[in-house]
Amino acid sequence: MVGAYPEWDMAPMESTYTLHKLWLAENKEALLERISTLVRAIATRGELGASSALIDRLPRLEIIACYGVGTDAIDLTRASERGVRVTNTPDVLTEDVADFAFALMLGSLRKVVAGDAHVRSGAWPKRNLPLGTSLHGKTLGIIGFGRIGRAVACRAAGFDVTVAYCDLMPALDSKLAYYPDPVSLARACDILVATVSGGEATRNIVNADVLAALGPAGLFVNVARGSVVDQDALIAALAEKRIAAAALDVFWNEPNIDERFLALDNILLEPHQSSGTVETRKAMGQLVRDNLAAHFAGRPLLTPVV
Ligand code: 8YV
Repeated sequence: MVGAYPEWDMAPMESTYTLHKLWLAENKEALLERISTLVRAIATRGELGASSALIDRLPRLEIIACYGVGTDAIDLTRASERGVRVTNTPDVLTEDVADFAFALMLGSLRKVVAGDAHVRSGAWPKRNLPLGTSLHGKTLGIIGFGRIGRAVACRAAGFDVTVAYCDLMPALDSKLAYYPDPVSLARACDILVATVSGGEATRNIVNADVLAALGPAGLFVNVARGSVVDQDALIAALAEKRIAAAALDVFWNEPNIDERFLALDNILLEPHQSSGTVETRKAMGQLVRDNLAAHFAGRPLLTPVV
């Protein structure tokens, strides 16, 4: 196991498998050296993944089960070369991640966190909180029209928000406005939300040009991966008010995020918690365990990636 799961998953994992906890090892190298020829499965998390180096250390490895839908931190090429199966946890987290995209939009536009700080600090009797910005009536651009992007689009109708999206191809089953690239999408919308998969193919697709197209009234929301946005360009655009604000749940190098973010007043920062509800995390853990159980029983995997 690469990183901890909640307690309700740890107990069944420990009772079913001989569990080696890499994140607790004082000397990770020594642990890997000791168990390398024993390990048949890796249980990891979306943001932790499994590198080619780790996969190569484990000659008997059969399966990597990921607690998370994103597998960008797993070397899928190396896994498939080695015949190692990979599973993830799609669907069970879609609704919570989409909900959280709206929490970020409202949190930023309607100054939810700033309002709380205003009341707590005792400033309320002295001055009013600066006014917020309406969500309803705006146009929302979704980068990545997969499961999560579509769930965001569904919710937008309830908020009276117009939706447009960008993906590799237009979705045949959708009448929403399609834009073939992030710049033209950003130009057409007030709020840009990234729900696209991470990885090399989408690295920095939200770049300086996209942020310029979003413009000085625009809000950028990221519930995807830190890697999909050019972080230097984002920080510069926020600092120079070339976009109005950002609300971010994911970062490059999280949890040790770039400290320049902390100095900005037009940003909402969250600790990668879009899928972080008890309900969803229980379902994710169950799916990880069901995939492992299916593999070791010789049954088809429930949610295979490779
Ligand atoms: C994390 C995620 O896996 O699904 C994903 O890809 O990034 C998240 O759900 C979660 O934070 C658990 O570590």
